Formats: sequence, structure tokens, C-alpha cells
Amino acid sequence: MNFAISADGKISSTGKRPSGWTSPADHTRLLALRSTADAILVGKGTLVADRMTMTVPGKTVQPLRCIVTRGGSLDPDLPVFQKPGGAIHLCVTGDRAGEIPGATAHHTTLPAFLGTLATDLGVKHLHCEGGGELVRALAELDAIDEFHLTLAGHTLFGGLSAPTVTGIPSEFLPRSLDFEINHFEPRDGECFLSYRRKPSEG
Ligand SMILES: NC(=O)c1ccc[n+]([C@@H]2O[C@H](COP(=O)([O-])OP(=O)(O)OC[C@H]3O[C@@H](n4cnc5c(N)ncnc54)[C@H](OP(=O)(O)O)[C@@H]3O)[C@@H](O)[C@H]2O)c1
Repeated sequence: MNFAISADGKISSTGKRPSGWTSPADHTRLLALRSTADAILVGKGTLVADRMTMTVPGKTVQPLRCIVTRGGSLDPDLPVFQKPGGAIHLCVTGDRAGEIPGATAHHTTLPAFLGTLATDLGVKHLHCEGGGELVRALAELDAIDEFHLTLAGHTLFGGLSAPTVTGIPSEFLPRSLDFEINHFEPRDGECFLSYRRKPSEG
């Protein structure tokens, strides 16, 4: 996972402000983290809000580009479908999505899609860039090994319905997940943090 969070723990505003509110150094870190991945995973909301291309500049072998949706329509004019990059795989968990030329649709559940990535598509390192709704589902599956955060002390979003890393605040996860910190780097009003999942006890 990689997220930027505001000083009040939000990943965006109530109006779903797109990315671009953190420093150039944070963007550089985002690309460095992305460059180590075999595949990038995002929810449809993030793909649309941020108009992502899900590519790594200058990389010869681009990561797979994976998008999770229940089946809402995806606009083929979105930048991700226009810019050359890694193969595009859609995880469609609900009704059938409209066909997108050049994208492979997997009509399946999220855990089954993760299995397909690992076993059929050779993905060892899956890098997720949000959003909160998708991360909430991945946290419920206990499928998160590493969490990279940029704590942006310069921004407060406020708003009850502004999303956090696990979506709009609602019920707690069914159980707590323990992570330990392994990187702490304050700079220019932000702090780059990394956490690794601790093996569950018992
Ligand atoms: N600060 C940061 O680092 C950061 C990172 C990422 C995103 N964001 C921000 O977060 C906002 C977007 O967040 P979002 O709440 O829209 O979250 P999201 O998880 O990106 O998108 C939600 C949509 O993705 C699909 N989806 C997510 N989880 C799913 C699941 N388990 N199964 C099936 N489909 C699933 C659904 O699409 P359908 O409606 O098609 O079913 C759902 O409506 C934007 O403002 C973006 O800029 C910030």
C-alpha cells in the first residue's frame, strides 16, 4: 500500500479531491515504490478521480495495471486505456462491465483475483495505490504486508465523510492488524513512513 494522509488522517476531501496535494518528493517516492512492483492495483474511484496512467516512467518492463470494480462502466477514454504500459486486468466482482478493448476482464471475487495474479500471472509484488474502499476490503482479507504512508502535516481536510485509508469512517475492522514501523523520514512538512505486517499470533 502507498498513501498520503493529511494531518487529520484523511486521504482526500469530502469532494474527493484528486491527488497532487503533496510535495514533489512524495511524488518521487510514489514512483520509486511503484517501480518495484510486478503489478499495480487500484479501485475504480481512484482511477477515475486521479486520472491515473499506472505506468512507471522509463521502465522497460511495465507493471500490470489492475482495476477493481463491481461492474460500473469504465470510460475507454480514461488515460489508463490510452497510454501504453503494462497489460490491463479488470477485476469485476458484480455485473458484467462493458468491454474495454485491450483490457482483460476477470469476472470473479477480489480474493480469487489476487490468487490469479499470484499463480497465473506471476505477480510476486502487488502494489496498491488505493483507494480507501479497496484497502478496507484488502484489510478484511488480511492481504496487506507493507503500508507506506506520507503523513502530510501541512494539510487538514476535515469532514466526517472525507475518506481515510480504509474508506469513509464507519465500523471498525473485524479485528486489529498489527504492523511495525521500519522507516521514519521527516522532511519539509511531511514524514515518509513504512510499516510491515507483524505475523499474527496463534
Ligand atoms: N491520498 C492518497 O494517497 C490517495 C490514494 C488513493 C486514492 N485517493 C483518493 O481517494 C478518492 C477515491 O477513493 P474511493 O473511495 O472512490 O475509493 P476506491 O476504492 O478507489 O474506489 C471505489 C470504487 O472502486 C471499486 N471497488 C473498491 N473496492 C472494491 C471491492 N472490494 N470490490 C469491488 N469493487 C471495488 C468500486 O467501483 P464500482 O463503483 O465500479 O463498483 C467502488 O465504487 C479520490 O479522491 C482519490 O484521489 C487518495
